[in-house]
Amino acid sequence: MITLEIKFNQVSFKYNKKKEDYALKKINLLFNKSEIVFVMGSTGSGKSTLVQHLNGLLIATSGQVSIEIDNQKFILDKFYKEKNINKLRENVGFVFQFPEYQLFETNVLKDVMFGPYNFFKDEKKAKELAIKALKEMGVGEEYYDRSPFELSGGEKRKVAIAGVLASNPRVVILDEPTSSLDPIATRDIMGLVKRLKEEGKLVIVISHDTDLCYEYADRVIILNKGEIIKDCSVCEAFEDYRVLKDSCLEQPFILKVKNKIGIKDEKIKSIESLKEVLKDG
Ligand SMILES: Nc1ncnc2c1ncn2[C@@H]1O[C@H](COP(=O)(O)OP(=O)(O)OP(=O)(O)O)[C@@H](O)[C@H]1O
Ligand SMILES: [Mg+2]
Repeated sequence: MITLEIKFNQVSFKYNKKKEDYALKKINLLFNKSEIVFVMGSTGSGKSTLVQHLNGLLIATSGQVSIEIDNQKFILDKFYKEKNINKLRENVGFVFQFPEYQLFETNVLKDVMFGPYNFFKDEKKAKELAIKALKEMGVGEEYYDRSPFELSGGEKRKVAIAGVLASNPRVVILDEPTSSLDPIATRDIMGLVKRLKEEGKLVIVISHDTDLCYEYADRVIILNKGEIIKDCSVCEAFEDYRVLKDSCLEQPFILKVKNKIGIKDEKIKSIESLKEVLKDG
């Protein structure tokens, strides 16, 4: 049986050791299955800070994150030594909010090969995995020789995601993956997120888009000023007007329509499924 357990135990974090403002305050959290989790909250609420604790990009100022994947255990706290960080990052892939932070090689193919080469030390295998990931992201061969820095924002994002998928991590974290993307590219990304979950991965998505969250998420975590104010199903989260207001979040459009016409069925989460019901009824 493949294990997956990620536990935040009283995690607090501050960027400036000399100041008292904490970006995260005593966070307790558990992830232990393949699911799609959306992390939401207003700008500056601590979303990016929170998820960067999952692969050791940030280490808790106090408290601990313990990560167990396929019987490998990592304890991330202030005593953590970075020696097995590569192993951790092979298991927990992270796509940055700004893809520029992630891309650095001279061409797209080399960039995507970097992760698998680092893990497997086998150029042929790294190339195969990179090409598979680029294909999955719809990045054609004509891009392989191009500099990643000369691509459009959306193209950079696709290459950055391919770079993470190439190492086949068990946990995939996407920090605002659909910002700056057109509606079709957004649907493509969400299709990928669904496929990753079906492959047995835990997928954590940061987003401000409550419509996408309502349609795709199994669970939503809402942060406010460094604290978790909701960790529940989407149906529960978006009925709470105070939480929505405090987090500057819009109620999902489909939920507004359902409330207006008196449909309670929690399985209806998209315009398409609502259309089906209205047609049948
Ligand atoms: N590198 C940094 N140095 C100092 N403070 C930081 C740094 N990065 C973030 N912060 C602060 O930590 C808090 C949480 O920031 P974080 O980036 O986690 O927010 P966020 O919820 O991801 O916001 P956004 O939606 O704008 O991406 C904010 O008050 C922010 O100003
Ligand atoms: Mg952020």
